[in-house]
Amino acid sequence: MSLMTENGVAAAEPGGGGHNFVVVASRLPVDRVEEPDGGTSWRPSPGGLVTALEPVMREAGGTWIGWSGDAGPAPGPFEAQGLHLVGMGLSEQEVRNFYEGFCNATLWPLYHDVIASPQFHRHWWDAYVAVNQRFAQAAAEQAAQGATVWVHDYQLQLVPRMLREQRADVRIGFFNHIPFPGYEIFAQLPWRRQVVEGLLGADLLGFQRRADATNALRACRRAAGLTTRGTTVRVGGPAGIRDVQAAAFPISIDSAGLSQIAAREDVRKRAREIREALGQPEIVLLGVDRLDYTKGILHRLNAYGELLNEGRLGPPQAVLVQVASPSRERVEAYRTLREEVEQTVSRINGQHAEVGSTPVHYLHQSYPREEMAALYLAADVMLVTPLRDGMNLVAKEYVACRNDESGALVLSEFTGAADEFGGAFLVNPHDIEGMKDTIMRATAVKPAEARRRMRSMRRRVREHDVARWAASFLSTLDGTSVAAGADAGRDASTY
Ligand code: F6P
Repeated sequence: MSLMTENGVAAAEPGGGGHNFVVVASRLPVDRVEEPDGGTSWRPSPGGLVTALEPVMREAGGTWIGWSGDAGPAPGPFEAQGLHLVGMGLSEQEVRNFYEGFCNATLWPLYHDVIASPQFHRHWWDAYVAVNQRFAQAAAEQAAQGATVWVHDYQLQLVPRMLREQRADVRIGFFNHIPFPGYEIFAQLPWRRQVVEGLLGADLLGFQRRADATNALRACRRAAGLTTRGTTVRVGGPAGIRDVQAAAFPISIDSAGLSQIAAREDVRKRAREIREALGQPEIVLLGVDRLDYTKGILHRLNAYGELLNEGRLGPPQAVLVQVASPSRERVEAYRTLREEVEQTVSRINGQHAEVGSTPVHYLHQSYPREEMAALYLAADVMLVTPLRDGMNLVAKEYVACRNDESGALVLSEFTGAADEFGGAFLVNPHDIEGMKDTIMRATAVKPAEARRRMRSMRRRVREHDVARWAASFLSTLDGTSVAAGADAGRDASTY
């Protein structure tokens, strides 16, 4: 019988590596910084996951296993920001074959509905198996007897089974941050059975949306020939029969923390400065994305470009700020996308800019949270138009920052966030005419309607924050809340 702590993690008997709670994620929650004296320090990397899990980590004596993002040997276990971290090393070849190859040129496009063509290479798969094995080994070494191990995302789908084979005593949860595709697409993967079997080493599989959980359950039936009942998969093995649950747990953000940043006077002042620097337009449109082909940046730019051509929108009345943070820059599809985006921005600006007036402000950079909050405050209309996105936390961040309930969110139907935000202006990003009309509707929304829409979205994001997401997943994993299998594909965070 497990003893629950406040945060829903079972307090385990000491033993093994001594940690009762182990997070296994492809990335560490810190970034390596080279100091001028040649030394190395670590600074927290922005991200909601660590915010949510930090209290659980502290309370349960947890550890976080992940990669620093650089090729080279493992930094080994260390303490940073008061957290116990275990750095994993990837060789230069593993960065190419595992990270850039199998993770980001096979699984990423496959799981995002083949927006780009996935590449299938056996040596990439071999690297994926080898790296997953090392992460599983590290988790097995760190976990105390009966610990809770939470594995994250598509990079580590084989870890649950590999870990269970070594440590049948631990409780294993897996959460997929990106979509899980329909079976007709998933079936393209030459190693589909191994991936499903890898996942099924977990006790609980969490997904962003009901549709993802349903797709994964179908993959269990079709790729591994297993029987499912509701959201339960029955798995047989040497250790007997086990039931694995699959359900939706829509991820969120630290809503209160971000809302507080947006309320700060220095941040509000910065938002005013941004509007001034943009020439005090009536309408500021904003896009904020990792520079990724799933985000629909080109579709958005094309829609905006046509609105400018047609004289329906543009400076001095309206300007678009597009933040596109650098990502996966050595992967070919990302390099091509960057060229296309930058050519499109230049074309639009070349055609429509005047001295002192620029229609698209393109920022190929990453910014700290305060600057992001100021940008969200400065924007009248937020454009979130991915072709496919597991959740999209930018949409939630924008809403959390709008403390005065003003502003409008144009949101793609193909995001997890669209399931939660009835107050958004929903668009199909492939329908350029529809997107143009919806952008125009959002720019012209009456203040009372904008407030009504924003209020409902803010309520959702306030009540369903990242702490609730983590607690919901972990308590379901512990088996203490209503069983995840009660209703096929039901959103477990509403229990
Ligand atoms: O959304 C999936 C994800 O892998 C996140 O975990 C991560 O923050 C983001 O994409 C960027 O990924 P990468 O680790 O490739 O920089």
